[in-house]
Amino acid sequence: MQYKALLTTALLSATSVLGQAATGTSGGSNAGSCTISGSQATATAQADLDKLAACSTITGDLTITGDLGNAALANVKKIDGSLEINNATNLQSFAADAISEITGDLTLKGLTVLTTASFGSLEKVQGITLLTLPAISTFNSKLSSADNIYISDTSLESVDGFSVLTKVNGFNINNNRYLTSIKSSLQTVSDALSFQFNGDNTTINLDSLIWANNITLSDVSSVSFDNLQAVNASLGFLNNTISELKLNNLTSVGQTFTITFNNDLTHLEFSNLTKVGGGFVVANNTNLKSIDAFANLQTVNGALDVIGNFDSLDLTALKSVRGGADVETKSANFSCSPLKKLQSKGAIQGDKFICKNGFKSSSVSKVSSVTSDVSSGRRDVSTSASTSSRSESASASASASASESNSASASTSSRSSRGAAAGNSIPAASFLGAFAAVAAALI
Ligand SMILES: *[C@@H]1O[C@H](CO)[C@@H](O)[C@H](O)[C@H]1NC(C)=O
Ligand SMILES: *[C@@H]1O[C@H](CO)[C@@H](O)[C@H](O)[C@H]1NC(C)=O
Ligand SMILES: *[C@@H]1O[C@H](CO)[C@@H](O)[C@H](O)[C@H]1NC(C)=O
Ligand SMILES: *[C@@H]1O[C@H](CO)[C@@H](O)[C@H](O)[C@H]1NC(C)=O
Ligand SMILES: *[C@@H]1O[C@H](CO)[C@@H](O)[C@H](O)[C@H]1NC(C)=O
Ligand SMILES: *[C@@H]1O[C@H](CO)[C@@H](O)[C@H](O)[C@H]1NC(C)=O
Ligand SMILES: *[C@@H]1O[C@H](CO)[C@@H](O)[C@H](O)[C@H]1NC(C)=O
Ligand SMILES: *[C@@H]1O[C@H](CO)[C@@H](O)[C@H](O)[C@H]1NC(C)=O
Ligand SMILES: *[C@@H]1O[C@H](CO)[C@@H](O)[C@H](O)[C@H]1NC(C)=O
Repeated sequence: MQYKALLTTALLSATSVLGQAATGTSGGSNAGSCTISGSQATATAQADLDKLAACSTITGDLTITGDLGNAALANVKKIDGSLEINNATNLQSFAADAISEITGDLTLKGLTVLTTASFGSLEKVQGITLLTLPAISTFNSKLSSADNIYISDTSLESVDGFSVLTKVNGFNINNNRYLTSIKSSLQTVSDALSFQFNGDNTTINLDSLIWANNITLSDVSSVSFDNLQAVNASLGFLNNTISELKLNNLTSVGQTFTITFNNDLTHLEFSNLTKVGGGFVVANNTNLKSIDAFANLQTVNGALDVIGNFDSLDLTALKSVRGGADVETKSANFSCSPLKKLQSKGAIQGDKFICKNGFKSSSVSKVSSVTSDVSSGRRDVSTSASTSSRSESASASASASASESNSASASTSSRSSRGAAAGNSIPAASFLGAFAAVAAALI
């Protein structure tokens, strides 16, 4: 291995301070490029970080931990590896404002008094994890590229920003109890988008989102997804305080579609939704009286489960339900007859068929079979199944003796334990918001 003398100096000082064995050290091709011996180094004092300031690029994984108060990593523009800051329980602020790229992950975790983390030039990172940061009020960056974003158990009040970030694989924000606002310009999420167990008053604005593989929302007070066109796998709104959901550009959900336990929900709009590739579950939304948002829904490839206090359910366009149907409402004004017509035409293919209103119920068991009668009957079904006549009360002999084999696979999510972020701090937090004020010259 060969490198310039100047570089050797920087390199050796960096590695020796980091307490690594000198063997295996090698220089990069550019001046100021340093390779961490053994590919992993741990800095436990500002003095260690000062030595790295001679490197514009660091190759290897850097961990910062120990008894630091305020710390900064100056000059370093790129880490070809990961950066993790953990268990530095006295660390109050950290800045690495020259870094524009971290090819691996950036992880900040278990930093109990950290209030400010500043990565003012950071544009690219593989994954970013902010975990158990109970005092943090500001995290800033200029992130335009990231595969995964995971923010859990922090005191951040907002995750506003990602103004240039349009694509991620995963976006998971959970257990941030002070969180009130999430705003992003994301357009696509190729894996899961999940917001759960944050502050109950969190508002979400993802108006640029066009498609996502999965979406799961819990404990959210308002949601805006104006451009959402497709959810490839599952879409779930579970246990929120939202009063309305308007997703008029959404045309299909690839797997299970769930709206459950949203007790403040009174208004739904899904005017372009035609296809649900899994189960369709709208249940236990106690104040939802009229379910007329699904008038264009044509196919449900799983079971249809609609349970609650609703007076009306409009499934005018429904042609095919691959699974069974379980429709139950406490309202006596609801009519089961459109559903019974659908079922008698063979449009509901599963064995289970339950329709109950008020105290009366109608239950029919049939052997599931696809025959030419069934398909030829569908056209009639689609035009005849409307819930126009409310006065008619459903009847038929009771007993829910129907087979349970097609019951819906509603994806429910058990509430994970709430995080411990909080303490006594009164955060005025903003993710990517204000620029962090950091003691500048720590070198
Ligand atoms: C955190 O650091 C303290 C010392 O500062 C140490 O005693 C403890 O074991 C560390 N915990 C972890 C999980 O590394
Ligand atoms: C949520 O907001 C409402 C009014 O906007 C307020 O009354 C309520 O206390 C808030 N809840 C929490 C947990 O902050
Ligand atoms: C996301 O979708 C995939 C299918 O693409 C599924 O296997 C997975 O369980 C889903 N994850 C969540 C969190 O819903
Ligand atoms: C649907 O998306 C188009 C742009 O693709 C937008 O103009 C329109 O406002 C969206 N519809 C709704 C209901 O937001
Ligand atoms: C999800 O659906 C959209 C729109 O149909 C499509 O463009 C995208 O490639 C799909 N993504 C995945 C991960 O299947
Ligand atoms: C909904 O939230 C309440 C507490 O806010 C919790 O007790 C309940 O288990 C949650 N239900 C679901 C389905 O997540
Ligand atoms: C439904 O989708 C069509 C395009 O397919 C669009 O023109 C229309 O605005 C959408 N409806 C609503 C209510 O957004
Ligand atoms: C609705 O709530 C009831 C009673 O809590 C529960 O048994 C049922 O499983 C819930 N249904 C769905 C689909 O969440
Ligand atoms: C049923 O409908 C009638 C007239 O539309 C209304 O007066 C009555 O309150 C409704 N009953 C229930 C239980 O919703």
